Amino acid sequence: MRVSRKSIEEMHRVRRLNLINGITGIKPANLIGTYSKQYGSNVSIFSSVVHLGSNPPLLGFILRPTGEINRNTYDNIRETGYYTINHVHETIAEKSHYTSAKFDHGESEFERCGLTEEYLYDFSAPFVQESYVKIGMKFKEEVLIEANDTRMIIGEIQEIILPEESMDDKGYVRLDKIFDVGIGGLNNYYSLKRIASYPYARVEEVPPFRN
Ligand SMILES: Cc1cc2nc3c(=O)[nH]c(=O)nc-3n(C[C@H](O)[C@H](O)[C@H](O)COP(=O)(O)O)c2cc1C
Repeated sequence: MRVSRKSIEEMHRVRRLNLINGITGIKPANLIGTYSKQYGSNVSIFSSVVHLGSNPPLLGFILRPTGEINRNTYDNIRETGYYTINHVHETIAEKSHYTSAKFDHGESEFERCGLTEEYLYDFSAPFVQESYVKIGMKFKEEVLIEANDTRMIIGEIQEIILPEESMDDKGYVRLDKIFDVGIGGLNNYYSLKRIASYPYARVEEVPPFRN
């Protein structure tokens, strides 16, 4: 099957959105928690969180155009400078998905979606109590992507809270052991299974593969 640029343009809007949104493969599932003095707490699902560098420890995520639609997560991050990133696991996948509904500013997704806000280590933004991996973030900068008016929001990790037994002796988090999920497109959730762990790839150690 071939899908040309022309047929992408001619595709029904929803079909195109589903295809292009899912074509990169599995994305991480995270809940971003924020707080606003006026409206209280907020939590929403984001699949675009990406690692930008380890020293300083930076993560980014892509925010859709702000435009006329309320972007509570964005407004709250700009107001307070702090937010949390919380992994989604199988038991909370459905609740997490529904945080994407367009709730009013004053309505907390925590309450509506049956998730629990939790404040830890004097961190001002709410963590998601049910998540096994919780990351406290400080806003650093935003980059406007002119091609489509989206923004990359960049922050620095301040806290990582996770079950001790989920981290292996090298510092990797075993995502399968904590039942983390992956996202395909906008509404497909996958369970994860580790199939291998390969060593750092040195040219002189590459096995003699043949095709
Ligand atoms: C699976 C999934 C992944 C999503 N990922 C993103 C994302 O990476 N960036 C984004 O701007 N919106 C994303 N959304 C949409 C937001 O969750 C949605 O716009 C939400 O209402 C934003 O909440 P807020 O207005 O409280 O910030 C995603 C929605 C779903 C269902």
